[in-house]
Amino acid sequence: SLGSLSLIVLGCGGKNKGKTSIGANPPIPKNLTTNNKLFVPPLIDTRNTTTDIWIRNSEANILDSTLTNTYSYNTAVDSLGLLGPTLLMERNMTSSLNFINELGVETTAHQHGLHVSGMNDGGPQSRILPGKSRTNVLEIDQPAGTHWYHPHPHGNTGEQVIKGLAGLIIIQDPEEINSLPNLPRSYGVNDFPIIIQDKSFNTDGSIQYDAQKSYGKRGYLGDSILVNGQIQPDVSVPLGWIRLRILNGSNARFYERGDSLSFSNQQQFYVIASDGGLLSEPVSTTSLPIGPGERYEIMLNMNQNQQLDLMVGNRNILSLVADLNTYDNSQALLPTVLANVPKALNQKNNVTRTFKLSENMTINGKKMNMQVIDEQVPLGITEVWRIFGKGARHTFHVHGCSFLVINRDNSEVPLWEKGWKDTIIISGKRPVEILVKINKTADRTAPFMYHCHMLEHEDMGMMGQFTVA
Ligand code: C2O
Ligand code: CU
Repeated sequence: SLGSLSLIVLGCGGKNKGKTSIGANPPIPKNLTTNNKLFVPPLIDTRNTTTDIWIRNSEANILDSTLTNTYSYNTAVDSLGLLGPTLLMERNMTSSLNFINELGVETTAHQHGLHVSGMNDGGPQSRILPGKSRTNVLEIDQPAGTHWYHPHPHGNTGEQVIKGLAGLIIIQDPEEINSLPNLPRSYGVNDFPIIIQDKSFNTDGSIQYDAQKSYGKRGYLGDSILVNGQIQPDVSVPLGWIRLRILNGSNARFYERGDSLSFSNQQQFYVIASDGGLLSEPVSTTSLPIGPGERYEIMLNMNQNQQLDLMVGNRNILSLVADLNTYDNSQALLPTVLANVPKALNQKNNVTRTFKLSENMTINGKKMNMQVIDEQVPLGITEVWRIFGKGARHTFHVHGCSFLVINRDNSEVPLWEKGWKDTIIISGKRPVEILVKINKTADRTAPFMYHCHMLEHEDMGMMGQFTVA
């Protein structure tokens, strides 16, 4: 019931579509500059309704001097001309997303991290031809968490994402709200979507990307690091505890090692959730690695600082500015215990599948072939998947499930990876082992994918397909 919701911002459902009040963060009209204020995508309530999402050619004011041609996801609410609205979903409710393709080229619409059947997963087989639409019916059956949606047309995902197609999904769970009432949940007020992406621009303002070009082992690396489509924006935040839902939506850039995410002053922060939901308890750190496709939710306390900068290495990508007069944030607190995450089991003798990611963009010696189903996975059975990077770095993503990491590089799994994951950094040196159990079906017409989430690697063939029955 609506009474249990803590999200301040409730979007448009059913008949009210388009008349939504967006609370503290009014939608920014398309093509207007944000004056380097962080753009907070509007939050759209998709629970138990059908939401139309138009996939369009747009323009966005990313650079001072000129408009940039982009792609964007649009609902009845205005957008930045880049990215898409944040879609609110809820456990045990159904969200139907009707994607309408006005791009003029083929696309698909995939919900990354959602446990839905192959038919509704939006993978490469689920084509949406120009001028056509497709409805994904999402019966939400998983914990509260932060996910995302993006196109997945085989061979063309990198280009469509870099042009602007990506948006966040927030799943909420009334039981989680009851058991952890003090987590920050006021969207755009103390709970912020943070989409990190890198792009290079041509002098005419267009995004520099050549889909024909091989970007090689490292994939596409842009010169600018954007947050929610803005270069080095700033955002007012209240004093006290705030929450950032961070997505590395970059095509291929890792924020890792010397480029791990951190804050100015080496400010301590707490990781509270990995890709698939809350960790068992907050993990304290001063830096956090994140690979393409991964999400982490973090909390930090603004009480000691007027301003904190989110950093990649020594580059400031977002300034958080404490605003003393805004919002009574005293209810927001960091809990000591978060969720019940199963302990990683030791199943070392039970390896059932091995995936070798090679520099020639193959997995187990094969490139993605739309006609070939590479694996058949039994429904509801736990398997150990062992992934090798063979000398190079990748991120490995599996559709249709969240998994647990049980072995990273033959040593300790970092604490922030001891939660539900669906995408994981493969260091290239030693294998990573994950426990996979798929509870959703997928057939030959709409199989699930496993692939490298460096989009240039994926587009060049580092992907495979599996059915589940
Ligand atoms: Cu984020 Cu197969 O995708
Ligand atoms: Cu790769």
